[in-house]
Amino acid sequence: MTHVGEEVSLVGWVQNSNDLGGMNFVNVRDRYGLTQLAFNMESNPDLCEQSRKLGREFVIQAKGKVAERSSKNKKNPTGEVEIIVSELTILKEAKLPPFTIEDETDGGDELRMQYRFLDLRRNPLKNNLILRHKMGLETRKFLSDQEFLEIETPYLIKSTPEGARDFVVPSRMNPGEFYALPQSPQTFKQLLMVSGYDRYFQIVKCFRDEDLRADRQPEFTQIDCEMAFVEQEDIIMTFEGLIKHLFKSLKGKEFAEQFPRMDYAECMERYGSDKPDIRFDMQFKNLNTLAQNKGFSIFDSAEVVLGIVAPGAATYSRKQLDALTDWVRRPQIGAQGLVYVKCNEDGSFKSSVDKFYSQEDLKAWADFAGANAGDLILVLSGGLDKTRKQMNELRLHMGTELGLRDPKVFKPLWVMDFPLLEFDEESGRYHAMHHPFTSPKKEDFELLNTEPGKVRANAYDLAINGVEVGGGSIRIHDSAIQSRMFDLLGFTKEEAQAQFGFLMNAFEYGAPPHGGLAFGFDRLCSLFGGQESIRDFIAFPKNNSGRDVMIDAPSPIDITQLTELSLNVDVKES
Ligand code: AMO
Repeated sequence: MTHVGEEVSLVGWVQNSNDLGGMNFVNVRDRYGLTQLAFNMESNPDLCEQSRKLGREFVIQAKGKVAERSSKNKKNPTGEVEIIVSELTILKEAKLPPFTIEDETDGGDELRMQYRFLDLRRNPLKNNLILRHKMGLETRKFLSDQEFLEIETPYLIKSTPEGARDFVVPSRMNPGEFYALPQSPQTFKQLLMVSGYDRYFQIVKCFRDEDLRADRQPEFTQIDCEMAFVEQEDIIMTFEGLIKHLFKSLKGKEFAEQFPRMDYAECMERYGSDKPDIRFDMQFKNLNTLAQNKGFSIFDSAEVVLGIVAPGAATYSRKQLDALTDWVRRPQIGAQGLVYVKCNEDGSFKSSVDKFYSQEDLKAWADFAGANAGDLILVLSGGLDKTRKQMNELRLHMGTELGLRDPKVFKPLWVMDFPLLEFDEESGRYHAMHHPFTSPKKEDFELLNTEPGKVRANAYDLAINGVEVGGGSIRIHDSAIQSRMFDLLGFTKEEAQAQFGFLMNAFEYGAPPHGGLAFGFDRLCSLFGGQESIRDFIAFPKNNSGRDVMIDAPSPIDITQLTELSLNVDVKES
C-alpha cells in the first residue's frame, strides 16, 4: 500500500486475465509475486484492446501508476494494489503451456518433469529452491564461523566405497580406463586431514547408481564434513549445533535440550528400524512369553511374536481391518497375516484369535503392551529380522493413518553404535555397514577375531522424523586394524593396495586421529519443507528410472565419440 500513486515499470509473465468488458485485468507473475494490471476500456480503449490479446505466459513490460484495489485479495501480498497501465509492451509471445502454471496445477508428474523449466515458475517449487538456497547459506555461515574450510574435491576419481554402484566415465586419453564419479568425497576428506586441514566441509554433489526412491536421487548433494584431533562426542556436538542452527534460522525453531540418542540394537528392538520416527510411540512389544504355547501353531512356531498398540483404533471396522491385513500381505511387506486385538470400551477384548486365547490371556497382552480401552493391538510373527522389518512398515503406516506424523513436528534422534559389518547371505561375505575406514569400538576389538558380526562401530546416524538425514564415523587410525578390516571384507593385500593404496600410503605420513559425517542436503531441505520427496527441492531432478526426461538423458552417443573413447557398444535395436 505504501507505493500507491507511484509510477512503476513491471516485467513478468502473464498468469491469467479476467475480462469484465469495461475493464480487463491481467495478473503478471515475476519471481517476487503476482501483480494485477488494470486496463480501462473507457479511459484507454486501444490499450485495453491490446491487453485482450495477451496469452498465458507472454513476457510483458507494463508501465503505470499504483492504485488501491476496490476488491482486495488478502491472500496475495500485492493483492491490495493494482497498476493502472499506461504503456504495455510484449517482450515475447509464448506458446500455450501444457499445464496451468499456478500453485495447484493440472499437470501430471511426467509432463511437469518434461517441462521442468515451466514447473519451476510455480510458487511451490520456487519456495523450495529459496529454502535450499537459504539452507546452503546458513550452513556455510555456521561452519565458517567454526573455522571449517570449504574445499572442493574432484569428480573424476577412482571408485569410493559407499556400497552403491559407481557411475563411470571413460577416459579418452587412457583407452580402456575409466574414472568413477564419487559416491562421496570420503577418501579425499580423509586425505585433507592428513594434509592438516583439520576442519573441512563441502556442499557437494555425490553420485550413486542405485535403485531410486522418494528420498534417493542418482546425483544428490551432501553437506560433507570431517574433523581431526577430535573424538566422537566432539563431532556429534558440533554437527548437532549445525542442525540446531538450521532449525533456528530457517524455521524459527529452538531445541533447548540435547538431541536424544539410542543404540542401534535398541532401535531395532523397539522400532525395527535404524531411523525410527519417534514423533509417535507405538514401540514393539515382545509377546513371546504371553502368546506362545497356547495352541496357536503360527505363534508357537515363530521366532518372535511382536505387538504394537495403535491408540484409539479399536473403532476400526471389519473392512478397515481386512484392508490392513491385505496391506501387510502385499509382496512389498510380505507378512503372512495380521492378528488384531480390539480393547473395547467395556473392558472386553475382541480378537482375530479368540479361538486360542481367553479374555484373561488377551487382558494380559493388553496390560503388558500398555494398551487402554479403545486401543487396537496389532500382532505379527515370524523370523526376527523379517518380522521387525514388517512391523516397522506397519507401525509407520498406522502412524500415518492415525495422523501421528505431523510434518510440523520435528523429532531428531542420534542412532549410535552401528554394527561394523553386516553379513551378506548372497555373497557369503561380510560387508562394511558404513565403509571400510570406520573404526570398531575399542571394547569390541577382541570380537574382530572371534565374532566379527557382533563388533560395534564408532558410527552414528542422525534420523529426524524417520528420515536418515546424515551419518558418519570415527575412522580407523591404526594400520593393523585396517588390514584386519580388509581381511574381513575379503580383500587380498593386493586388492586392498590396488583400491585404497593411496590412502593407506598417505596414512604412513602422519595421519591425525579423525572422523566426520555427511548430511543429505536434499533430504534436509525436503524435511524442512514438510515433504517426503527430495525431487522438488532439486531444480532439475531425475525421474524414478534415473532419466532426465526434459533433456532426454541418458541417450546414445554417436559412433565417432564411441571410437574416440575406445568403446565398443553392443547397441540393441529398439
Ligand atoms: P552415507 O552414505 O550415509 O555416508 O551418506 C550420507 C547421507 O547422504 C544422504 N544420501 C542420499 N540422499 C539422496 N539420495 C541418495 N541416493 C543418497 N544417499 C545418501 C543420506 C545419508 O545419511 N562418506 C559417508 C559419510 C561419512 O562417513 O562421513 C557417507 O557418504 O541423508
